[in-house]
Formats: sequence, C-alpha cells, structure tokens
Amino acid sequence: MNKTYKIMTFGCQMNENDSEKLSGLLKQRGYTPTEDEKTAGLVILNTCSVRENADVRVFGNLGYFKNIKKTNPDLILAVCGCMMQQPAIVKRVKEDNPQVDIVFGTHNIHRFPELLANYQASGERVFEVLEDDDGLVEDIPVDRRYPFKSYVSIMKGCNNFCTYCIVPYTRGREVSRDHRNILREVERLVADGCLEIMLLGQNVNSYGNDRDDGVHFADLLRELNEVEGLKRIRFMTSHPKDFSDDTIAAIAQCDAVCPSIHLAIQSGSSRILKIMNRRYNKEQIVALVAKIRERIPLVSITTDIIVGFPGETEEDFQETLEVVRACRFDAAFSFLYSKRGGTPAAEMEDQVPEGVKHERLNRLLECLHHIGKDQNAIYQDQDVEVLVEGHSKHNEARLTGRTMSGKLVNFDGDDRAVGTLVTVHVDQAKTFSLDGTQIS
Ligand code: SAH
Ligand code: SF4
Ligand code: F3S
Repeated sequence: MNKTYKIMTFGCQMNENDSEKLSGLLKQRGYTPTEDEKTAGLVILNTCSVRENADVRVFGNLGYFKNIKKTNPDLILAVCGCMMQQPAIVKRVKEDNPQVDIVFGTHNIHRFPELLANYQASGERVFEVLEDDDGLVEDIPVDRRYPFKSYVSIMKGCNNFCTYCIVPYTRGREVSRDHRNILREVERLVADGCLEIMLLGQNVNSYGNDRDDGVHFADLLRELNEVEGLKRIRFMTSHPKDFSDDTIAAIAQCDAVCPSIHLAIQSGSSRILKIMNRRYNKEQIVALVAKIRERIPLVSITTDIIVGFPGETEEDFQETLEVVRACRFDAAFSFLYSKRGGTPAAEMEDQVPEGVKHERLNRLLECLHHIGKDQNAIYQDQDVEVLVEGHSKHNEARLTGRTMSGKLVNFDGDDRAVGTLVTVHVDQAKTFSLDGTQIS
C-alpha cells in the first residue's frame, strides 16, 4: 500500500492546527509525508469558507485532482474543514466531484483514521459530517511544523454570530478546554523543546465563560506564565467586547506573555458595528486601545478590518479611517466584504459595488502602511530579542524571526541560531519588517 500523504491547508490557524493533528494521526499509523501530490497515496484538502475566494480555490483544486487521478488512480482524495460543514457544498462534492473519496468535517477529525480504514476496506465513498461535536477530544497526537513553537487550541467554536461570518456555522458553539488539560499539554510541549506557544480561539477573551471552574482567560495566562522554560505566550484572536481589565493586567505582569494583541475591530463606524452584531462601538474601541497602550509598554496591536459591508457609506468608511489613525495599529489584515450564503448580511440590501469596495480598500491600505511604518520606526537602532524561525523567504543567506511584540525581523546572523532566542540590532525599520544584525 502507498502510505505517503500530503495535506493541503487553507484558512486560519485553527485549520493549520487541525492539519497538524491529522498529520500526527497518520504518522502514528506509519504514514509518511510527501510534497508530491502526483505520486502520493493520500491527499487531504483541509478547506476554509470564510470568504468566497477560499471556496473558489478549493473547487479549483478539486478540478486539478480530477486530472491527477487519471495518472495516479490509486490516490485517495479526502476533503475536510469548514467548507464541508455546509450541506450545499457537500451536495456539490457528492454529485459533481466523484474524484473525492472521503468527506469529513471540523468536529470529527479524530475519526479520520477510521474513515480512511472504512474506505480502504470497502472502496465505497465515505461521508461523515457532524453538525456539532460530541465534546472535546483530548490527546490527539500533533505533528508540529516547528520544534521550538507550537499552536495550542484553548477553545473551539464561536457564539458571536457576527452577521457577515460563516465560522459559527462551520465550527459550532464555543467550548473551552479544561485549564488542567491545557497546562498539561503546554508542559509536555516545553519538555519537548518548545519555547513559544500560540493560544488559539476565535475569541480567546471569552475563554472559560462556558465553564464553571472560575478560570478565565487572564487566569489561564497567569497559570501558563508559571511554566518553567516557556519563554513566550502568544494568543489570538481578541474580541474587543470581552477584553477585560484583568487580561490587560495579566499581559502587563506576566514576563512570558507577549505584548502583542490581535484585536479585530472590523469597522470604526458604530452604525456598521451594530449591524455587524459586534456589540461595541467606535468610542469603546478607541478607549480600549488607549488603555491597552497606556498599561502595556511597547505593546503591538494588530487588527482585522472589513471594507464594503452592506450599507457602508463613505461617512462610515471615514470613521474606520479615523479609528485606525487614533489606534495606530501596527499592522492589519483588511478584507473586502464577501457574501457568505446563510449569514444574515448576505440577505441585506444595499450591497456595496465591487469598484467602491476596492477603492476603499486601497485608501485603507495606504493609511495602514503609513502608520505601520511609523510604529516600526520606534525600533530603529534598538536591540531586540528575536526567536529565530529559519531563513528569510527572500534571501536564504539571512535569518528571520519575531520580536516579543510580534515584529518580523530579517537579519544577518549565525545559522546555528535557528530555534533559539538571540539579540538583534535593528539597522533599518521598514514598513512591514525590521532589518538587522545579530549581536549575541
Ligand atoms: N474570530 C475572529 C476572526 C475569524 S475570521 C474574530 O472575530 O476576529 C478572520 C477574519 O476574516 C475576521 O476577523 C474578518 O475580518 C474576516 N471575515 C470574516 N467573514 C468575512 C466576510 N464574510 N467577508 C470578508 N471578511 C470576513
Ligand atoms: Fe466570526 Fe464574529 Fe465569531 Fe469572529 S467572533 S469567528 S468574526 S462570528
Ligand atoms: Fe476559514 Fe474555518 Fe478558519 S472558515 S478562517 S478555516 S475557522
């Protein structure tokens, strides 16, 4: 049997983390990874549905694999992830994509080895998508991409139902893990050489709200900060509505907790935020960011912004620009609003024309880049601590890594530094990164 596999991951860190689990499960059963889908025995597409172009890319890949199967007919093609949680998409795969052998969803990745065995035994296509989970499954083996850093999911699902967003439909309701299980996982990771962990959740600030042990996000940060040998704790995503003063205090107090906050604001217009169901307004964002900057020295704050939400006027967009200027975001992901079937916003009238959306996005990017450059300039000629991740994408001779605050640093240094913490002198602060030289 051809026991080689390739996993192609679309979408966010949740999906990347799920793919690492799928990979762990497969390795445990004697499978080995390959880069070459043309000769692989198994390919898994882990899909995302957050914007329309994510869906389009996956259907494009399905077409590609229809061809690959002509030369590699024994290839088993599995598709999972957020797209598969939508019945209309599963129907399309079932009816129009016979090259797909196995379909499963976000709630049953741990069942994949069994689904694969069923397919191998019967040769019949396997479809298993659950509407919600049957509780959290702990202790799935994880095949980590880096030895020195790791994702740790602290919760799954989302209860917020922002009116544009598909995620609550694809990931189910919020369930927080028991903090003792999280601690155990982190201790194991550190024993295994991890220096940095990234805590994952759609809205980490509501961690623990669904549990009755009284452990909330700030408590979790304090607990993990005590783990001997753990140097850096990151977390994402933060939702402004649940960002407590206690969390700000915990970030400020805990040495290992990175002063790096991904605080997704989505819009700066109170009117649009209300229709988005975000449950905070313009003034609250500005006040929250000011408070964070005042209480956490050298904090970096990044955000997500959607332009062209239905009904967004030029005045609304101007308010977003005002908030961006007031908050001085270090960086941002900005997206054109994308209609997602089944979400309330998709049904709203006055959808914004594509041309207007693009034009607003360009203006927003210009504003963000300007501010990003100024925020990076603070680091000019400073010495920063960098966790070295590897070689720079654009120049193999240079190393790359991140500061505690999450800034990307490209620098000349010693190859043996990969996977360790080093000090780098910043020679040139640029718009998207810092350039420097390793000094120790
Ligand atoms: N839970 C996180 C984000 C999850 S999705 C949060 O609330 O911030 C990641 C980002 O995709 C969102 O922050 C949002 O900016 C963007 N997004 C989600 N749905 C979208 C849509 N329909 N169109 C465009 N962008 C969208
Ligand atoms: Fe989507 Fe809103 Fe939940 Fe984030 S908080 S995943 S944007 S519904
Ligand atoms: Fe995409 Fe699902 Fe993440 S829709 S952004 S992969 S939660």
